[in-house]
Amino acid sequence: APLVVAVDGPSGSGKSSVSKAVARRLGAAYLDTGAMYRAVAWHCLNEGVDLSDAEAVAAAAVAMNLDQSTDPDVEAVRVGGTDVTEAIRGPEVTDTVSTVAVVIPVREELHRRQRAVIAAAGRMVAEGRDITTVVAPDAHARVLLTASEAVRTARRSGQLAAAGETGVDAGTLHRQVAGRDARDATVSTFDRPAEGVALVDSTELDFEQTVAAVLAAVED
Ligand code: CDP
Repeated sequence: APLVVAVDGPSGSGKSSVSKAVARRLGAAYLDTGAMYRAVAWHCLNEGVDLSDAEAVAAAAVAMNLDQSTDPDVEAVRVGGTDVTEAIRGPEVTDTVSTVAVVIPVREELHRRQRAVIAAAGRMVAEGRDITTVVAPDAHARVLLTASEAVRTARRSGQLAAAGETGVDAGTLHRQVAGRDARDATVSTFDRPAEGVALVDSTELDFEQTVAAVLAAVED
């Protein structure tokens, strides 16, 4: 039977790893919508698009040929035939992604693509910042995953270290995460759950407990 699970949350909330685990448990596909915004940022940087020119950024998003895995066990993103799986996690993209993500026609274009991917999958866990509210407000289960700012910064730092990116001091990292959250918050509301959305605060939960809490919301 079709089953759509929408998971939103800020940077470092653990939504990607938790959503993938939930998708595996449910035998569902997985959509990382953040990777789509990251792909737009990569595409603009690659094509030399002026990021201050919203119209040019929007046109690049519409023209972008994106091929993204929805298998929770296979991370693969291609833009126009180039494998950008690693590049979209790099510092250049992370620094520019929220600039392209606040361009309304970019969001409209990606919303359209996201709804099409979700409809085609049937069973899917989709995660991002506006899935519970804008992309799939009629999802079977909707969850907002949060954690304290301290825990989120620590998790981001752990992710960067795992990716071999060291040398970002804690204060800088905290400013970067807070800055991106603040920019993102101008277009999406993810600091509190919308009506009908279950709140899962993972501050005091370990990974398995967080996955269990999201699955409990699905069973409700
Ligand atoms: O690094 P982190 O996991 O926090 O972010 P991400 O999920 O990879 O998303 C990267 C960026 O894409 C966010 O900072 C937002 O600017 C944008 N985004 C968005 O605007 N709406 C979404 N549904 C998902 C991501």
